[in-house]
Amino acid sequence: MSTRPLVAARPETIAEVTFDATLEERIVDLLRRYPTRRAAILPVLWLCQERYGWISPGVIRAVAQRLGESPAFVEGVVSFYTMYYTRPPARYVLQVCTTLSCAYCGGKELVEHLKGRLGISFGEKTPDGEFQLIGVQCLGACGGAPVVQINDDYFEQLDIKRLDGLLDELTGRR
Ligand code: FES
Repeated sequence: MSTRPLVAARPETIAEVTFDATLEERIVDLLRRYPTRRAAILPVLWLCQERYGWISPGVIRAVAQRLGESPAFVEGVVSFYTMYYTRPPARYVLQVCTTLSCAYCGGKELVEHLKGRLGISFGEKTPDGEFQLIGVQCLGACGGAPVVQINDDYFEQLDIKRLDGLLDELTGRR
C-alpha cells in the first residue's frame, strides 16, 4: 500500500499565509488553464492543502485574495467538500462511504468495526493523532462497494479482514 501519511502544518504557522515562490508559480500555471480565476478555486485549494496539510482560515484568506473572491465565498466552497480538511488532520484519514450501495454491501459493518477498533466516532481522531474517521456520502466508486478512502487512495470491495490488514500495515509504519 502506498498511502502517504498526511503532514499538517501547526495552526500558528498558517494563521496568516503568504504563498512562497514555488506555490505561487504552481498557482500561476493552474490559472493559465482556466477561463477565470474563480473557475480555478478547487485546484488552487487542493494545491494549498498539499502544501499545508489543511485549509486554515489564514489559507482561506490568502486564496480569496489571490483569486479576487471574498473569504466567505472561499469558505463556502471549502465547507461543501469533504476532501478539504478545515482542521489539522490525523496522519491517516479514513473516509468511509455511508451511502446506500456501500451501506448495503457491508459498509455498515465496516463502520461499526472501525469505531470499535479505533475507539472513536465520526469526526474524531485517535488520541495519538494517527487515525481519523469521517463518514462521507458517495465517493463515486459504487461499483466497488463498500469503499473507504484513506488519504488520497481508494480501497474497494473491502471486508473487515482486509480493512484490518490495511490498518495493521499503517499502524506498523509508526
Ligand atoms: S455509494 Fe459508496 S461509493 Fe457510491
